[in-house]
Amino acid sequence: MKALVLAGGAGTRLRPITHTRAKQLVPVANKPILFYGIESMVAAGITEIGVIVGDTRDEVMAGLGDGSRFGASITYIPQDAPLGLAHCVLIARDFLGDDDFVMYLGDNLLEQDLAAFVGAFEHARQGEQPAAAQILLKRVPDPHRFGIATLDDDGHVVHLVEKPDDPPSDLALVGVYLFTARVHDAVAAIDPSPRGELEITDAIQWLLDHGERVRCELLTGWWIDTGKLTPLLEANRLLLERQEQRLDGSIDESSSIEGRVVVAEGAEIVNSTVRGPVAIGVGARVVDSFVGPFSAIGARCVVERSEIEHSVLMDDSSVIDIPRLEDSLIGSDATVRRSAQKPRALRLMVGDHCQIDVE
Ligand code: DAU
Repeated sequence: MKALVLAGGAGTRLRPITHTRAKQLVPVANKPILFYGIESMVAAGITEIGVIVGDTRDEVMAGLGDGSRFGASITYIPQDAPLGLAHCVLIARDFLGDDDFVMYLGDNLLEQDLAAFVGAFEHARQGEQPAAAQILLKRVPDPHRFGIATLDDDGHVVHLVEKPDDPPSDLALVGVYLFTARVHDAVAAIDPSPRGELEITDAIQWLLDHGERVRCELLTGWWIDTGKLTPLLEANRLLLERQEQRLDGSIDESSSIEGRVVVAEGAEIVNSTVRGPVAIGVGARVVDSFVGPFSAIGARCVVERSEIEHSVLMDDSSVIDIPRLEDSLIGSDATVRRSAQKPRALRLMVGDHCQIDVE
């Protein structure tokens, strides 16, 4: 079994962060989203991994390297334009050969291990009615945003549709799929959708239309498509909740650390309260401040005389003299500070596609 991880595409809904960064590399709980996917692949015993890369290939390649740090071997497959998930399968043909593979969308995060999902497919492959594909489904409140499946009374997949205006069910396709080599016939046969993409949903429908069996499993744990701010902060919260306390950095006597807090090596907490779950990155400095639940402070960040809660600060950014910062995502090397300059005013240099909510 091989893996195909999709880390190309455009991150329009997380602009401006994704003007300069791959959306799959935005950190949650101080680790890039994509790393969680690769790690769960390796934990399921899949170490031959192809990674689809687009415009942000340099950054993705620098982050993942040759895969050895994950115990995997990574082959990069460049995609010239984001022409769809099925297009990714098409261009990965040489890498995939005739092997079964798991396709994983690099901006998805799942609570559950992949091992059971992969094991169920392999087990079924040895049965009497082997499936050509296996999909993972989850009930969602907003089905028009996803690929949607319809099941018959026996729970068999009968129909799939991509982002329908009038959803036939609330069962969304989660971004983890298992395929046999039969999918190569499907991706070669389908046409682009109205949005101009070769849809994997259409490829799986093609398999159904050609008499193939498509297994499905219902996901019980949480699943987050991290492409927007609110789900990203939610993923950050859920992952921080799973961590245990680890204090490798320095904490002075006038500071207090409460609950599941990770203070990484070289980080300093001075005269501050940190109430977990919180992650403080390598070399960060928190001085005269309060860092509240569900915050991830990236490497080398500076937080001074401020209060932060339920927020992600990416590496090398600073928050200074801010009485209260909540529900925020601050990009790397950014500064948010209160200025004493007169007249008192908001003075902003705001990038394209930013959102600023003033109290
Ligand atoms: O998140 C689950 C949903 O993912 C499914 O329910 C949908 O059926 C499926 O089409 C997909 O929808 P999205 O609109 O969320 O896909 P997105 O364009 O965000 O792409 C998913 C990942 O694949 C993302 O990490 C970028 C990467 N990608 C995407 C395209 C279109 C590529 O690497 N190349 C591409 O051409």
